[in-house]
Amino acid sequence: MTPNGQDKSSDVIVVGAGLIGLACAWELAAGGASVTVLEREEPGCGASRVAAGMLAPVGELDFGEPELLALNLRSRALYPGFVAAVEAATGLDTGYRQTGALHVALDRDEAGELRRVMELQKSHGLDSSWLGPLGARDLEPGVSPSLAGAVLVEDDAVVDPRALVAALRVGLEAAGVRIVRAEATGILTGPAGIEGVETEDGARRAGKVVAAPGAEAGVAAWLPETVRPPVRPVKGQVVELRGVADDPVCERILGSERVYLAPRPDGRLIIGATVEEMGFDRRVTGGGVHELLREAYRLLPDVAEMEFVEATAGLRPGTPDNVPVIGETAIDGLFLATGHYRNGILLAPLTARAIRGLVIGDQTGEQVEAARPDRFEQEVLG
Ligand code: GLY
Repeated sequence: MTPNGQDKSSDVIVVGAGLIGLACAWELAAGGASVTVLEREEPGCGASRVAAGMLAPVGELDFGEPELLALNLRSRALYPGFVAAVEAATGLDTGYRQTGALHVALDRDEAGELRRVMELQKSHGLDSSWLGPLGARDLEPGVSPSLAGAVLVEDDAVVDPRALVAALRVGLEAAGVRIVRAEATGILTGPAGIEGVETEDGARRAGKVVAAPGAEAGVAAWLPETVRPPVRPVKGQVVELRGVADDPVCERILGSERVYLAPRPDGRLIIGATVEEMGFDRRVTGGGVHELLREAYRLLPDVAEMEFVEATAGLRPGTPDNVPVIGETAIDGLFLATGHYRNGILLAPLTARAIRGLVIGDQTGEQVEAARPDRFEQEVLG
């Protein structure tokens, strides 16, 4: 123990206490490792605080991303067990609900596009079905009466990322994981690889280090330049409205071509999200909020009666191929868990399992070959 009562060595240091870092710490602790998490700000105050929490590998499927789909589906399958374990350990509700999702076409052009997306879903063997306007409004009576059709996805779900972060913090503390307010300033290395992390308060030693710096990964000065992944910030603005828990404006995730709405169990509704290449700009703008509210109103006119709670902006960690970066770097014992772009909440359980397998080498580890950090180097060389 150090003089201030804090043991400054552990088996693993996780740098970054967003959902990805906390989930990695959770799995590592479950695997028997002693873990310290370093975070320079409030845990979960980055993208995790802004995310709507859609667990929607089917509804959010895009063309040309089969590897990402495979990762997303595997993590989706892990979600019920992951949140059940966190909820059982803490007694806290994470807001996880298998609501399903209804994707709505508001005119004939959008209907053509939505049918093409449904065909793509079906070509991957995924479960989705077409509904006409009456069928769609039977399920969700609040959607615009002028809709042209809709696709129902039963398997998609939603979680409250803020509630999940709060529960993980409680669970980690109970499991003996320390979350320390400290800024990483460098790494400690020796002949065998990583030996710890330098902070403004001195060195912290660990045989393994997991870097989970979110959108800052590409510019994180504490990481040697050679191992920084090509991650860029992609801004997303989100609006939160409040309704009535026992008379919700919708039961399911609702989506249109331009907006999605994620209901919370307490009647709140999250409207997301803009996708903006603005660098490290986290300003909430009039234009962003206007666009979200306008499109939400086109989809679900009842939003006009809801109370405005807040508008926030966060930074997604984007990669060149939209696939995350998970794995060991060229420095032995230094791992990356970042680059989750639009799927950070969804991919948390799979990322954490993969990191557990790589760091501890136990049987529960998931293989995430498509996310290996060196794939970008190979592209440059090849
Ligand atoms: N996953 C939704 C978003 O990033 O906006």
